[in-house]
Amino acid sequence: MSGFSAEWLALRAPADASARSIDLARRFAAALRPGDSLADLGAGTGSLLRWISPLLPKGVRWTLVDGDAQLLSRAPRARKLRRPLGGRLPQADAFVSTALIDLASPAWIARLVRHARGRPLLMQLAVDGRHVLEPPDRRDGAILAAFAAHQQRVKGLGPAAGGTAPFVFARLAARAGYRVRTAESDWRTTDPALVAATIEGIASAAKQQRPGLAVDDWLALRLRQAAMRQLTLVVGHRDVLAVPRKRRPT
Ligand SMILES: C[S@@+](CC[C@H](N)C(=O)[O-])C[C@H]1O[C@@H](n2cnc3c(N)ncnc32)[C@H](O)[C@@H]1O
Repeated sequence: MSGFSAEWLALRAPADASARSIDLARRFAAALRPGDSLADLGAGTGSLLRWISPLLPKGVRWTLVDGDAQLLSRAPRARKLRRPLGGRLPQADAFVSTALIDLASPAWIARLVRHARGRPLLMQLAVDGRHVLEPPDRRDGAILAAFAAHQQRVKGLGPAAGGTAPFVFARLAARAGYRVRTAESDWRTTDPALVAATIEGIASAAKQQRPGLAVDDWLALRLRQAAMRQLTLVVGHRDVLAVPRKRRPT
């Protein structure tokens, strides 16, 4: 088991699907060859495989890597590696992830870039630190700041980069010689269930981070608004694509 339930991943999958950058996914696909092997790091239940497969060349071979066997058991048929990502990374012709690199430290992200050795990398839906609630409330600032600090705690791959992750990855990949492109892939949702679950997560993390912070009344108000579809939640994300400047030799 990880801290991510299959229910949470199912709840977020439609918002992720409409937020993912099709432009970057197509450019990623163009950097692949038929039969290439792809490793999805932190694959969970395989949402990215389901979404991106129609865009990819024929015969791509997937390896889904995750520390959580229960999540992997719900993923489509593929090679599955139940493995902590803090250890040995799998070999592959290209690497993808969704909602992973913000959980990792800059040092781990640097290790991933070194490990890829010039092979394509597509890191989707890394949080970029922006959270907006509409309508605003005077307590949002303090609660969201505590939540952002919590996102930089250790999450299993060193002190997490949190909202800096897409920028850290883009900088490191560019420095390693990749051509890097970034696209915003925000959630903008009034879906009551997704908004409620996200707001509850924010409130719980903010309380852990700043135990004295008054969060309960704010949470009760935000949940009432969410239930009536009167709360819009924007979560800022970036997709970042890193491809080699020259086509790989065949
Ligand atoms: C936010 S979830 C995203 C899951 C999936 N990519 C998706 O979009 O539905 C992060 C995933 O990374 C996995 N994960 C996080 N840290 C890990 C680690 N240190 N080792 C292995 N897996 C890890 C979790 O089990 C979880 O499935």
